[in-house]
Amino acid sequence: MSHVNASVVGVVGAGLIGRAWAMLFAQAGLRVQMYDAYPAALDACIHEIEKLLTDMQASELLHEPVAAILARIVPVTSLAEACRDAFLIQENVRETIPAKTDIFKQMDLLAHPQAVLASSTSWLPASSFTESLAGRARCLVAHPANPPYLIPLVEVAPAPWTDENTVSVAMRLYARIGQEPVLVRKEIHGFLLNRVQGAVLNEMLNLYEQGYASAHDLDKVMKFGLGLRWSFMGPFETIDLNAPEGVADYAARYGDTYAQVARTQGHNNWDPEVIARIEQERREQLPAEALQQRARWRDNRLMALRQHQKKQPL
Ligand SMILES: NC(=O)c1ccc[n+]([C@@H]2O[C@H](COP(=O)([O-])OP(=O)(O)OC[C@H]3O[C@@H](n4cnc5c(N)ncnc54)[C@H](O)[C@@H]3O)[C@@H](O)[C@H]2O)c1
Repeated sequence: MSHVNASVVGVVGAGLIGRAWAMLFAQAGLRVQMYDAYPAALDACIHEIEKLLTDMQASELLHEPVAAILARIVPVTSLAEACRDAFLIQENVRETIPAKTDIFKQMDLLAHPQAVLASSTSWLPASSFTESLAGRARCLVAHPANPPYLIPLVEVAPAPWTDENTVSVAMRLYARIGQEPVLVRKEIHGFLLNRVQGAVLNEMLNLYEQGYASAHDLDKVMKFGLGLRWSFMGPFETIDLNAPEGVADYAARYGDTYAQVARTQGHNNWDPEVIARIEQERREQLPAEALQQRARWRDNRLMALRQHQKKQPL
């Protein structure tokens, strides 16, 4: 069997997230062996990457020519070729337990025993699709945020049986390619980012449903309020600064009130009738045909914000 090579990775699944990983790995100088079960998806992916890199070059975000980065992304026609020599294989197929179970079973058979097997799953704990594998100790979740080349967070979430070395190889790799890995110490459905996002969305839906504000004004609470602070520091650091003597002082002043409010913050069922009203309000703000253009605008704003953030001390 071949040996692992510290400058080779495999990327499995060439959709939205797979191609983002390929770009990030290749920009960091790694050779990327890129596989998709559908050859057409692989072709489309290489084409998309070229377009994205060209846009990034126009914004002066690349350190070398597009062609040099593209040359490190090697489309391959089998999973075995994607795994060959790779020290880490990043899986990005459909978000279902059977699909993840099946692809991890194959990757565990094909990859070198020392290789790390990482899944981009957004919600599924690694234990839900790796339990029966001989190599389950080298499996974990590495969940990126979308789009990963603009939002650097990666949630590294091991299963109870993942070994420490696997975790540290993964944490080091994501840091090396310029991402910001965080460790999810215990398995939990949805990891950290989507749980926090879910908590905010559920409260927004409750406030909307109960008639406290329009969707537009609720978005403004984030856009002109919390989101501004939270774009460069987290809620814990925020409250540390919002009372003269820090977190404990903040909690002494406002903790009881937050606890009282928390008792009135129920779950939300995402009622289709309420969603339809929000949809209508959104379409009045932004017609469906303008969605893509607005997403491009968002990516440009994110790019500017990220450049600002990179220049700040941590
Ligand atoms: N879209 C997001 O915002 C986002 C963010 C973070 C994580 N994720 C996670 O990333 C994963 C991929 O999501 P996506 O949005 O890129 O999906 P996608 O539908 O864009 O891409 C999936 C790709 O996998 C390919 N594929 C399917 N079965 C395969 C197989 N057996 N072998 C090889 N290739 C196969 C498909 O042809 C397709 O190209 C999911 O687990 C998702 O939860 C998505």
